[in-house]
Amino acid sequence: MTFSGVMWLPWRCAPGRVSACAVRRVFTSALRRRSSCSPAAFLPEAAGFQGVKDRATLHEYSLSDSQGFWGAVARHRLSWIRPFDTVQDCDLRQGRIKWFEGGKLNVSVNCLDRHVHTCPERVALIWERDERGSEVRYTYRELLEMTCRLGNLLKRHGVKRGDCVTIYMPTCPLAVASMLACARIGAAHNVVFAGFSAEALAERIRDAQSSIVITMDQGVRGGKVVELKKTVDAAVESCPMVRQVFVGLRTDKPVAMAARDIPMEEEMQKEDVVCEPAVMDSEDVLFLLYTSGSTGKPKGLVHTQAGYLLYAALTQRSVFSYQDGDVFGCVADIGWITGHSYTVYGPLANGGTTVLFDSTPIYPDPGRYWDMVERLKINQFYGAPTAIRLLLKHGDEWVNKYDRSSLKTLGSVGEPINTEAWEWYHRVVGEGRCPVVDTWWQTETGGICIAPKPSEADAEIIPGMAMRPFFGIKPVLMDTEGKTLTSNNTSGALCLAQPWPGMARSIHNNHQRFIETYCLPYPGYFFTGDGAYRSEEGYYQITGRLDDVINVSGHRIGTAEIEDVVNQCPAVAESAVIGYSHNIKGQGVYVFVVLKKNVDVQEADLSKQLNSMVSKNIAKYACPDFIQFVQRLPKTRSGKIMRRVLRKVVERDLDSLGDLSTLDDPAVVQEIIQGHRQLLSK
Ligand code: WT7
Repeated sequence: MTFSGVMWLPWRCAPGRVSACAVRRVFTSALRRRSSCSPAAFLPEAAGFQGVKDRATLHEYSLSDSQGFWGAVARHRLSWIRPFDTVQDCDLRQGRIKWFEGGKLNVSVNCLDRHVHTCPERVALIWERDERGSEVRYTYRELLEMTCRLGNLLKRHGVKRGDCVTIYMPTCPLAVASMLACARIGAAHNVVFAGFSAEALAERIRDAQSSIVITMDQGVRGGKVVELKKTVDAAVESCPMVRQVFVGLRTDKPVAMAARDIPMEEEMQKEDVVCEPAVMDSEDVLFLLYTSGSTGKPKGLVHTQAGYLLYAALTQRSVFSYQDGDVFGCVADIGWITGHSYTVYGPLANGGTTVLFDSTPIYPDPGRYWDMVERLKINQFYGAPTAIRLLLKHGDEWVNKYDRSSLKTLGSVGEPINTEAWEWYHRVVGEGRCPVVDTWWQTETGGICIAPKPSEADAEIIPGMAMRPFFGIKPVLMDTEGKTLTSNNTSGALCLAQPWPGMARSIHNNHQRFIETYCLPYPGYFFTGDGAYRSEEGYYQITGRLDDVINVSGHRIGTAEIEDVVNQCPAVAESAVIGYSHNIKGQGVYVFVVLKKNVDVQEADLSKQLNSMVSKNIAKYACPDFIQFVQRLPKTRSGKIMRRVLRKVVERDLDSLGDLSTLDDPAVVQEIIQGHRQLLSK
């Protein structure tokens, strides 16, 4: 088989050097050149776009001639088995999103084979295991071999094109090979974060209708053993469709194996190292990834082949100024979209070396990240604000102990990064010489949509601001009536006015919910669910969710999901879950509980019980920080819980409780305030 794609051209842009100055702005002082990088520095293929002089005109071009822009980029960046006929066929009003139709390709070929042809011994993965200093490297040749063996094994067990395989594994090479093996044979994958409980896993297996699950015997994280296989065993009890469970080995302790369980490594050894790649259509499903929405039921977002891969690759290379030979350290778990796009698909499509971080920021001590940076010579480090805030508290000495001179770009993702954390990240971790990119995006967007880079080397970066839309991204702010806000220095609901190749196509089994959630609130626009502020200069800053979704340590969770679990407790009449500002986690979980009449329980016992219910049904990170028992909740006369009031109480913002006249009985507010004070004084 021959692949018609053009190989990557190396592209270079001087890494923007930034240094703090007295004001909140950070400029490049050393590189204050007016002459900007040429468009080819952002995108070599841009050399062919007539009249494009700089980043701003390239961005305008990407919007005004979206077909021309994305067509050229897709031809240049991906290896196609058959070229596409049309660039896009999208109608946001109808929820129709199709890119590169007629095109045929294989994602695993784009991530592996084409690099094996040119540089088989280049390191693809560096697995930073929990045990410090025991990292393992895998070359592109080795990863392709592992992927092919696994692809053949899956096929032997009846996995076909169009099936969906659930992956419940820690961040490790076998997990990456599992994802790529699915892509190779045309099956979709559904990675479930290995911190989710058996119940949460089962719900996702059932919704995805997976007949195959891939897991490990055990995980090891922060020095502790995680019982992955046992959790899968418990989950599949309520999943009659599961035919086989593939079990990889991580620890020495034997785990119980049933008839449906297959020892993965042993069986892989029997398979051929060549596995013919499936010829996939651009719009075939690549993966499902479940995320929380504002109802109790998580939604399986659908991402497809070509557009997703192209967008992940392009953003990984240009937002972080990734250059050939760099070591890319995205410390996200593969169970989240960040792990999909920036640990796996983006870096591998670019032929990069990517780090699989399988530990915690404070194990065995708070120097773990920076020790790893020194040992692996990481050039781009991409992490979450919650970890930065935690490490900041442990002090500078844990950072300064290690050589960080390899670092060129620092990234932040998943939640707003406060100025203090940003400044520390920039000044201490990056020694004031690495640009910090605060990247805004979502599971739905597939890849980074707003980030300070790419931009001219001397362009300013403002702490805590995502700032500039990526190529092809057109942010729009809306007022409450659905009108576009055109002026600067304004806040509104953040929508994206044009489709882009990386966006999710649907919600699995529920396209109507996709349309209702993202397309109908502002017809013709993609609604993100976030609010944003546009500054005087036209830069964007994300202000937070507009719906009942909260963000705990960068993990998204719907308040309704937690309420559904709490309400299952026989003693509970009703509940309301509110997110409140937490200095490490970003947001914490605060639960108001109304008990049924005449129940005789100790509040402390019940709190414990509710905690374990949330942990068992969802995950540990979703557990309440506070549980306040109340006689009743503030409700409007029509019976709707006034969450705004609860939010103000937990944020201790009592001066702006707002209009309480629609409350059924305003006296409830004082009861709740008092209970809140008592709880905090305990
Ligand atoms: C939600 C998406 C981005 C991939 C990982 C999380 C919040 C994300 C930022 C940021 C402020 C951010 C938003 C968004 N968020 N990045 N840089 N600044 N908020 O993906 O689980 O789909 O969550 O995370 O509220 O909607 P996700």
